[in-house]
Amino acid sequence: MYCEKIKFKNYRNIENTEVKFSPGINVLYGENAQGKTNFLEGIYYFAYGKSFRLASDKEIIRFGEKEAEIKTEFYDKVRKRSHEIKFFENSKKICLKENIKTARLSEFIGIFRAVLFSPEHLSIVKDGPSERRNFEDIAISQLFPLYMSSLSKYQKTLAQRNSLLKDPETHLLKEMIYVYSEQLAEYGALISEYREKYTKKLSIFVSEIINEMTAGKEKVKINYIQRKSKEEYIKSLTENTEKEIRAGTTLYGIHKDDINIELNGKDSRNFASQGQQRSIALAMKLAEGEISKEITGEDPVFLFDDILSELDQRRKDYILSGLSDKQVIITCCEKVNVGNIFTVKNGEIIA
Ligand SMILES: Nc1ncnc2c1ncn2[C@@H]1O[C@H](COP(=O)(O)OP(=O)(O)OP(=O)(O)O)[C@@H](O)[C@H]1O
Ligand SMILES: [Mg+2]
Repeated sequence: MYCEKIKFKNYRNIENTEVKFSPGINVLYGENAQGKTNFLEGIYYFAYGKSFRLASDKEIIRFGEKEAEIKTEFYDKVRKRSHEIKFFENSKKICLKENIKTARLSEFIGIFRAVLFSPEHLSIVKDGPSERRNFEDIAISQLFPLYMSSLSKYQKTLAQRNSLLKDPETHLLKEMIYVYSEQLAEYGALISEYREKYTKKLSIFVSEIINEMTAGKEKVKINYIQRKSKEEYIKSLTENTEKEIRAGTTLYGIHKDDINIELNGKDSRNFASQGQQRSIALAMKLAEGEISKEITGEDPVFLFDDILSELDQRRKDYILSGLSDKQVIITCCEKVNVGNIFTVKNGEIIA
């Protein structure tokens, strides 16, 4: 997969700019606050339909403007495609494929596929379970539209069930709670099946990558905790409704899952050093790309935000040499001597 062109209009600090990328390594170079991450965020919108900075769609409209637009032309193994997103101050964004509006986000994402890696991704290894769930949710959603739509239904149902559990009249609403429990169990079982399969693949690729990166010194194993059937979810939810009413929230289900990352037999969250955690986070991102390729038959585009300064020379060489046959778009503040270099200044590309 190869992103050839992207056009921005009123996107954050980018007023009106077009960038033409080449296959291979592309570097967006510039001082702080010039718009480098904004460019990557825009590209990533085509992969995930959302900002990776957890910003709302409206926040990306340039200050003082009412609308914004991004448009890309990219190649996948089938043909050249043109996708577009329009953002509005007072209404929901619209996503277009070859100028035709898509009704659902799950119809739009998953065609342009990208893997994003930034220093914050260290949190996948270092922080709590939600970071790891989020990593898998984003990765699996790009590969399977059914996963994305089930997850979004799960989240809506969970919010409705939680508001019932908080209701002072809850005891009158038990039947309604049960209806939601059944729905959660159904979506949950499907999501958990995808997560388990994905984690198995992830574990294989990550352990291979870490093995290569550390010349066999470190061993990593990743386990999903834990797959359950629809019946098991229903059982947990119905047997514990009273407890959940007291807690005012849903205590069981895939929103509580974790992915356990072991380094040399020990939990990497507590026992791996900073450098080891960084290697694992990097390996997980490279593995995300490998799985995407295995399933779709082509490499995704790799987007690296400001990671080179964080990595030592050995890991830097490892990624840059390992990815030389794929398209990579990197931002950095220091001059580097690789790839096709674009200088970003004040939301414009000046060279
Ligand atoms: N909606 C918006 N309208 C106008 N400008 C915005 C908007 N949102 C963010 N900006 C500005 O965009 C600028 C560039 O942001 P960006 O994060 O892309 O910089 P960067 O080049 O990645 O910097 P760094 O090297 O520090 O990461 C920021 O100064 C920010 O104030
Ligand atoms: Mg930045």
